[in-house]
Amino acid sequence: MNSNENSAGDRTGHSKPAPALPSTGGLRPDFIWGVSTSSFQIEGATNEDGRGPSIWDVYCQNGEIKNHDTGDVACDHYHRYREDVALMKRLGVQAYRFSVAWPRVLPQGRGSANEPGLAFYDRLIDELMAAGIEPWLCLYHWDLPQALEDLGGWLNRESAAWFADYAALVATRFGGRVKRFATFNEPSIFSLFSHSLGKRDRSSEDDLHRTIHHVNLAHGAAVDVLRETVPGASIGCIHNHQPCRPSSASDADAAAAARLGTYWNEAFPDPQCRGEYPSLLRPAIAPYIEPGDLARICRPVDWFGLNHYSPVYVTARPDSMLGADFGEKPAGVPLTPIEWPIDPEAFRDTLLTVQQDYGLPIYVLENGYGNFDTPDEAGAVIDPGRIEFLRGYIGAMNEAASGGVDIRGYFIWSLLDNFEWEQGYSHRFGLTYVDYSSLRRIPKSSFHWYADLIRAARHR
Ligand code: FCB
Repeated sequence: MNSNENSAGDRTGHSKPAPALPSTGGLRPDFIWGVSTSSFQIEGATNEDGRGPSIWDVYCQNGEIKNHDTGDVACDHYHRYREDVALMKRLGVQAYRFSVAWPRVLPQGRGSANEPGLAFYDRLIDELMAAGIEPWLCLYHWDLPQALEDLGGWLNRESAAWFADYAALVATRFGGRVKRFATFNEPSIFSLFSHSLGKRDRSSEDDLHRTIHHVNLAHGAAVDVLRETVPGASIGCIHNHQPCRPSSASDADAAAAARLGTYWNEAFPDPQCRGEYPSLLRPAIAPYIEPGDLARICRPVDWFGLNHYSPVYVTARPDSMLGADFGEKPAGVPLTPIEWPIDPEAFRDTLLTVQQDYGLPIYVLENGYGNFDTPDEAGAVIDPGRIEFLRGYIGAMNEAASGGVDIRGYFIWSLLDNFEWEQGYSHRFGLTYVDYSSLRRIPKSSFHWYADLIRAARHR
């Protein structure tokens, strides 16, 4: 596939009609349309106003990121949040999901709060509310304070108490205005990847199991704190759920895919929503479980936050973590420019599975398309591939809803191009292009398409 679809696209952006909007007739009348971002990926200002370092600042300093990119400036959202809220208003979204940077409000991860850091989120929340956009606050989108990592991070059972104290600070400060809270973004992803999924090393499997359990305890503790502190709070956790499929017809690949799928898709929602670990994990987690832990983890939540992009193809690799690794994708599977499979039916099926397994209302809190967008000669960013992707996925969601799945909202990843973790700034997921030298924002054609879709869906 062409890695830069602009070169093949419509150069003017206006001469061809935009692809038709998908039907949204199966969605609830009070369906919520939104966009998502996260603190480290957009804020920048990593050394400003008393923020402490996070583990991601350290990874960047260690040169682990493509092109040696860092989060130091990112989209400079810390200073440009007003412009970004104005973009959301133009989109017509009803809700904005963002995360609080733990080290911005607690530079050492615990102890004294940093007033200027808290004040930034006050300004952001006020700006959103003035624009009629509901803030959805996620407590943890991966930027753990380095000071806590130095104490063992999630390997330390105390981390649940650190997280509960941080949740109390955030809930007390913002709970009068914010009612939607997520505890974690994608606990399975940061747990698996920080313990070397896909690397040729099984040595950190114990650490993975310990992390899983402690993060689950932290979730339960934070749910209790939010519930006690914020009247009318609506609380959930955001899970990345992708079907894990074998790369070949071999029994070994099937077993590896099932194993990885259990860790990826079930290790967090099962104990959180059903009060038990999947049977495959139980013996490995057992050494870390203390009496009462499962009741501490399984606290009532209001919804299931789902992030979904594409199925994952898995191959057996006995000497690597969990004996599983990323495998070949089947020939002929359509791919995005960053080579993630495009499979709207897998999204529809995932929505059904999640509903069947957990029985909670679902908010899709991330879905989107990674590309290498660039502006054309006229300065426009034309991204028909992203529009086509969103059309297919939103259509699949509408089908699932028509079939009875209780889906209450859909948030695109992302409002802006941003720091895409190990890929630095090379992968672009935004509805808005960010020129990283000038920090200028340019709404892409998908931005206008999504605005049209929201308008049509809300006024049908
Ligand atoms: C998700 C992450 C988000 C972003 C998208 C592309 O796994 O939650 O921060 O990186 O992928």
